[in-house]
Amino acid sequence: MLLWFLLLFLIPAMTAAAAGTRKNCGGNFTARKGVLQTPDFPKNFSTPIDCEWVIKSEKENTSIIVYLTQMYVFEGLTFTEYVEYDKRLPGVVILSGEDVVKGKYVQCHKNVLVISLKLNSIENNHIRVMDNFMDVYGFNITYEITSGDVRKDHCNMMDCGYTGLCYDYGT
Ligand SMILES: *[C@@H]1O[C@H](CO)[C@@H](O)[C@H](O)[C@H]1NC(C)=O
Ligand SMILES: *[C@@H]1O[C@H](CO)[C@@H](O)[C@H](O)[C@H]1NC(C)=O
Ligand SMILES: *[C@@H]1O[C@H](CO)[C@@H](O)[C@H](O)[C@H]1NC(C)=O
Ligand SMILES: *[C@@H]1O[C@H](CO)[C@@H](O)[C@H](O)[C@H]1NC(C)=O
Repeated sequence: MLLWFLLLFLIPAMTAAAAGTRKNCGGNFTARKGVLQTPDFPKNFSTPIDCEWVIKSEKENTSIIVYLTQMYVFEGLTFTEYVEYDKRLPGVVILSGEDVVKGKYVQCHKNVLVISLKLNSIENNHIRVMDNFMDVYGFNITYEITSGDVRKDHCNMMDCGYTGLCYDYGT
């Protein structure tokens, strides 16, 4: 009886969690540049969410630069760099918490940059500005793996007066 109860309760919860993390949630990124976004951006995503975007640079003397163009979520995000990615080892946190919405870019000089998003609920952790973006969730940001410098043509939500019209035309 107890076992049945546990199975009935646990199986739907487990499959829901698996479906939530599978659908274009995070992934491995090795291309020279690309776009990283939360599932169904700009729409809401299902929570709890636990996703990882792993950017790997396979070339020497390059850095990984992430441009924080459309960043609406100010909780649960952590940018961690690793020389060699291994979940069991601690990396170095280079950006997290509310600093994520203040920053314009993140530059990582190691081989791997992991962006992790962990949220139990979607309430009260998104920037909200009346009339502009009451219903935008998560983020839509870009990265590049380069031997060059940080580009100058980047913007973030503050730069564009919180209109939400902030794009990266270089990636
Ligand atoms: C990313 O790469 C790791 C290690 O190579 C692998 O275990 C994992 O399944 C990959 N994830 C995706 C979403 O492809
Ligand atoms: C997203 O928002 C819509 C409209 O408010 C709601 O019906 C839906 O349940 C939400 N979805 C998730 C995954 O939270
Ligand atoms: C990387 O930089 C080091 C030190 O500047 C240099 O010796 C090495 O040749 C460079 N490697 C590549 C592949 O450019
Ligand atoms: C996501 O960001 C890219 C790069 O800035 C932009 O081209 C694209 O239009 C954005 N997508 C949405 C849905 O805003």
